[in-house]
Amino acid sequence: MSKSTRVLTGITTSGIPHLGNYAGAIRPAIEASQQPSNDAFFFMADYHALIKCDDPERVAQSRLAIAATWLAAGLDPERVTFYRQSDIPEIPELNWLLSCMTAKGLMNRAHAYKAAQDHNESRGVELDEGISMGLFSYPVLMAADILMFNAQQVPVGRDQIQHIEMARDIAQRFNHHYGQGKEFFVLPQALIAEHVATLPGLDGRKMSKSYDNTIPLFEGGSAALKQAVMRIVTDSKQPGEAKDPDSTMLTQLYAAFAQPDQLAAFRAALQDGIAWGEAKQQLYQLLENLLAPMREEYERLMQQPQEIEDILQEGARKARAEAQPLMARLREAVGLRSPRQTTSTQGSTQHKAAKARFVSFKEGDWFKFRLLDAQGEELLCSEPFSDPRAAGLAQKHLRERGAQDVQTVEQQAQILIEGRCIAQFPTSRLAAVQAALASL
Ligand code: TRP
Repeated sequence: MSKSTRVLTGITTSGIPHLGNYAGAIRPAIEASQQPSNDAFFFMADYHALIKCDDPERVAQSRLAIAATWLAAGLDPERVTFYRQSDIPEIPELNWLLSCMTAKGLMNRAHAYKAAQDHNESRGVELDEGISMGLFSYPVLMAADILMFNAQQVPVGRDQIQHIEMARDIAQRFNHHYGQGKEFFVLPQALIAEHVATLPGLDGRKMSKSYDNTIPLFEGGSAALKQAVMRIVTDSKQPGEAKDPDSTMLTQLYAAFAQPDQLAAFRAALQDGIAWGEAKQQLYQLLENLLAPMREEYERLMQQPQEIEDILQEGARKARAEAQPLMARLREAVGLRSPRQTTSTQGSTQHKAAKARFVSFKEGDWFKFRLLDAQGEELLCSEPFSDPRAAGLAQKHLRERGAQDVQTVEQQAQILIEGRCIAQFPTSRLAAVQAALASL
């Protein structure tokens, strides 16, 4: 395998993607996935969506729209492992192991949680009002997303940098506590593409669904795109008046999608006094040229949900093939071991010995037992005993002395203890029974 760097990112499926999502996450991630040196994992963070959105229809619609968006934007599911978080049961499992290694104090410092508290404080209500445990421990789930696949680089918006740092903290703590020299988790790094600024929204604040100031990406077609661009807030400078290119969001938005020479021309036009309406028209045209072909593919995919589902199921299969072995190691590391794993670490002779065994059971008023071989197959079933102690003593006798007294009656081997037949079975099985008893 020549692929080297694991690049992973997720997008929360709580809305319909907007231009800010595209510039801040989708585009840089897809570009990164196209580099031959990268091994990309991209997923829909639909568990995270439940934190922000309790409307099932919106969650369902958004998962579909976001998958279609990434595919339409150029994601190649053949080279990228593209999946939904909720199709990987190992992620919530890891989330719990990490939760138990995460200081509550670390979560207290998370920006999203603090912002929610500050908001409550300013409204004069209980500090924790409306804050779910999901919101509070959001960064742990995000750490699980990242650490599950040992991502080295995580392309995210600047607002997510703190979460990546928390994932590093949590990984370090886990490695340190359980690792004993083994590194379970790679420490991830946030990848902020140099030329990607956080896009301003229509009102100049960061473009965000929660501010309701977004420019749609595909939804509503070119008409909706144009309408949004025309609503961008500007000052009251008149046509012909010089405009400072550095103090309008139009330039920031234009710069995020333009070639250097296009940008230079746009800035010059503003300084020359182009009307705001005309400048917006130029921005719209730049965006429309870029987005129209992708929008067409998006609309096609939205009509073909089964095509999307097949792609995602294949992605989940690839992702789980990686998650399962790591999860098995982690369970082992924290002490969640199955009995089989425990004995298998004790050497092969004991391993076999531990596996042939008696199993006692009750049948009506009677007490009986079976002798099972290493594979769990029944070798013999005892005659009924009227009390459990007698059945136990017979087992003890067999375990300590083997089948000393055996007689054969019509192809049946009978084991006798003090003259009494305690079990009979086909003579062909006698050697196997003797071997199993000897191994006990
Ligand atoms: N929190 C991210 C966002 O809101 C989405 C996300 C969830 C994510 N899990 C992730 C991003 C893991 C990168 C890696 O944008």
